[in-house]
Amino acid sequence: MSQGKFITLEGIDGAGKSTQLAWIADFLQGSGVNVVVTREPGGTLLGEELRALLLDSRLTMHPETEALLMFAARREHLDKVIIPALARGDWVISDRFTDASFAYQGGGRLVKITKLENLEQWTQGALQPDLTLYFDVPVELGQQRIAGIKSADRFEKEQTEFFQRVRAAYLARVEKYSDRMRLIDASQSLQKVQETVRHVMEKILPLK
Ligand code: TYD
Repeated sequence: MSQGKFITLEGIDGAGKSTQLAWIADFLQGSGVNVVVTREPGGTLLGEELRALLLDSRLTMHPETEALLMFAARREHLDKVIIPALARGDWVISDRFTDASFAYQGGGRLVKITKLENLEQWTQGALQPDLTLYFDVPVELGQQRIAGIKSADRFEKEQTEFFQRVRAAYLARVEKYSDRMRLIDASQSLQKVQETVRHVMEKILPLK
């Protein structure tokens, strides 16, 4: 049986990637593949416990503690969910993965990139997503979209400058890893964004 494909979705808070996720899963299922939908931090029992700590706005932590916990959750996620699913031939769609650590902990919190690269190597070796959709919005639009939806978590409470650094880090990665990363302009209407996503997905589906 052939190995499944690994797709990750990224974007700053308020980019709307979660709205697209259910639609992408339906689209792929309709194309005849088994889909496992998951998220980071999280995706396992332990990972979801770590997520609760990482997002708890009452807690403070050193940026490197935050990075280590993100990768700890990821190690578990790979072992319990992602690697077994890909080995079965299923497709995995993860709401965020390692690009988020480089964008948020690296760009946002200024953790040294070489340290994150070491953690990446330790946690996942050569494994990378087959496709990463990066949903891009201006920071102000992202902030408008999350304002008032729910009580802000530890990341959503950050200031504009933080998200500007996160976005800049994402944009730099899209350029650097243009083989697997695609920028989707998510400031367009939901329908336009879906059309673009469908176009990108159809291009990679024959890889199946
Ligand atoms: P998010 O995916 O935005 O979920 P929700 O839509 O429920 O708010 O929340 C996860 C947060 O975790 C998000 O603000 C980004 C952050 N994050 C990191 O800082 N580093 C990481 O490596 C990952 C996976 C997420």
